[in-house]
Amino acid sequence: MYKSHTCGQLRVADHGQQVTLAGWVNRRRDHGGLIFIDLRDRWGLTQVVFNPEINAETHATAGALRNEYIIQVRGTVNQRPAGLTNPNMETGDIEVVAGEVKIINAAKTPPFYINEETNVEEALRLKYRYLDLRRPRMRNNILLRHQVTHYIRNFLTDSGFVEIETPILFKSTPEGARDYLVPSRLHPGEFYALPQSPQQLKQLLMVAGFERYFQIARCFRDEDQRGDRQPEFTQLDLEMSFVDREDVMKLIETLFTSLTETLTAKKLVFKPFKRLSYHEAMERFGRDNPDLRFGLELKTVNDIIANSNFKVFSGTVARGGVVKGLNATGCGGYSRKQIDELTGIVKLFGAKGLAWLAVSAQADKPHRSSFAKFLSQAETDALVNAMQGKAGDLLLFVADTFETANESLGRLRLEIGNRLGLRDDNTLALCWVIDFPLFTRNEEENRWDPSHHLFTSPMDEDIPLLETDPGRAKGKQYDLVCNGHEISGGSIRIHQRAVQEKIFGLIGLNVEEAKEQFGHMLEAFEYGTPPHGGIASGIDRLVMLLAGEPNIREVIAFPKSQSATDLMANAPTPVAAAQLKELHIQLDLEKE
Ligand code: AMO
Ligand code: AMP
Repeated sequence: MYKSHTCGQLRVADHGQQVTLAGWVNRRRDHGGLIFIDLRDRWGLTQVVFNPEINAETHATAGALRNEYIIQVRGTVNQRPAGLTNPNMETGDIEVVAGEVKIINAAKTPPFYINEETNVEEALRLKYRYLDLRRPRMRNNILLRHQVTHYIRNFLTDSGFVEIETPILFKSTPEGARDYLVPSRLHPGEFYALPQSPQQLKQLLMVAGFERYFQIARCFRDEDQRGDRQPEFTQLDLEMSFVDREDVMKLIETLFTSLTETLTAKKLVFKPFKRLSYHEAMERFGRDNPDLRFGLELKTVNDIIANSNFKVFSGTVARGGVVKGLNATGCGGYSRKQIDELTGIVKLFGAKGLAWLAVSAQADKPHRSSFAKFLSQAETDALVNAMQGKAGDLLLFVADTFETANESLGRLRLEIGNRLGLRDDNTLALCWVIDFPLFTRNEEENRWDPSHHLFTSPMDEDIPLLETDPGRAKGKQYDLVCNGHEISGGSIRIHQRAVQEKIFGLIGLNVEEAKEQFGHMLEAFEYGTPPHGGIASGIDRLVMLLAGEPNIREVIAFPKSQSATDLMANAPTPVAAAQLKELHIQLDLEKE
């Protein structure tokens, strides 16, 4: 063994002990006579002192040490004299007085500081990820991630779940993204698809009779990257038989509450978690993944302005659109430039403009506004009243279709939340969104797209609507949202062949295509399939929120860059012609 103790272990009670430590030189301070080294390993830091009067040769070696050298030190634990202790270090009450030191491996000067939090360009961090991961922030994130999956495994095992691995080389398991394909050498012209989730396989495990399955599963989706999206990511995937949606929601709620309270100091805003219908979430927050750490709710004001002389408003209502507003409390002093910035944001999300009204500080003074001059006094008063506008508030309105008004104002709400400092990382606002429509209309292709995925069961009472008015059918779907991120999604599944076939038809698969792609599922449904349902949670997103990090790359050991590349190993890369030939692949690249 290279070490008798870790660098985070020694305390005053160890005073006088002979110990051997090994690790990285975190920092070296040369005080002329004495040399101090902070020695680092996974568990912490320990101060090592080199005194020329104790061992001149050892002291000389210490003089040659540089940051990130790997060394082994033998020495004696010494209680630090009063006044020289370091309360910021767990081992700050002791030091190790070095007797011997051995350089195990030298190190080049790293491309960025490891022992200090400095702002390093992300591309450089990703290129040298193994060094980036030495930094305390990253190390703590990766350790927290381990604690989270460990906690989940214990909790679910204690609740009667079995962890089962499912294949990575499989057939398309669609979740709405593009598939990653893997060419088959043995079957020319044929491809495996990497799973977008283990959805079909976990349902088949219910047919198989396991009743309670989980997996910490890797999923692959070829889609546009964002701060909370990676091309490969990890789900806590689970499925249960003989359950309804309350059972699944209850289990996840108990798990996430106890996990958060055990592993972090974060404050849960809602216990039990809040619940919103999809419709209510869209109405009040403009999004199905609302950030509920703050209010600033959207309000529809069609009633008030439908007959006004402001054509932007009345015209929109006449065309079947909506006028929605949001009260940016206390922002009434915003300059034109600041309001233009806000207008820029809503325009980015499709709005044609942003109408605004700064509520006057004095009752007898008119409000500053881009449109009040077109309204009667009664209309203006009613509008301010409906928005609960008080002196010094800034009321912001978008007139557009329901979708665009929601999308643009929903985004604006998040931005105002940022500006007002209402999005505190130390609180977690968890909320279930339920009662989703089963389908969304795909006008381009004249069919219905599943809102969640094609195995989600309609509400029992809505099954007849599949024949008459599919757009009105609701699904047994539940999403869990935290601070504006969708962290879990699941549903009770269809377990009857006829209903499943009906859904395939509505989403535009003919009988042949349905059989080709999902024949194994349809067949399985005929061999005694229990009612079942489940959920999958994004582990990366969950750990990101628990760690208070701004994006999921910070909680993944080796993430892809925003353009889906690995900057360390340099992937993807071209491959040798021979390898392509073996796979029966010919490239058809656009000429530069
Ligand atoms: P869904 O597609 O909603 O459901 O995914 C579940 C959760 O996985 C996370 N997630 C992602 N995380 C990082 N990068 C991505 N690209 C990404 N895509 C999704 C989200 C999301 O809530 N099979 C169903 C689950 C079920 O019905 O049981 C499914 O995959 O946190
Ligand atoms: P205009 O009459 O085009 O100068 O617009 C008057 C005010 O209404 C300006 O503040 C515009 O930004 C705003 N506006 C224009 N179109 C819309 C819209 N669709 N929704 C909300 N405000 C708008």
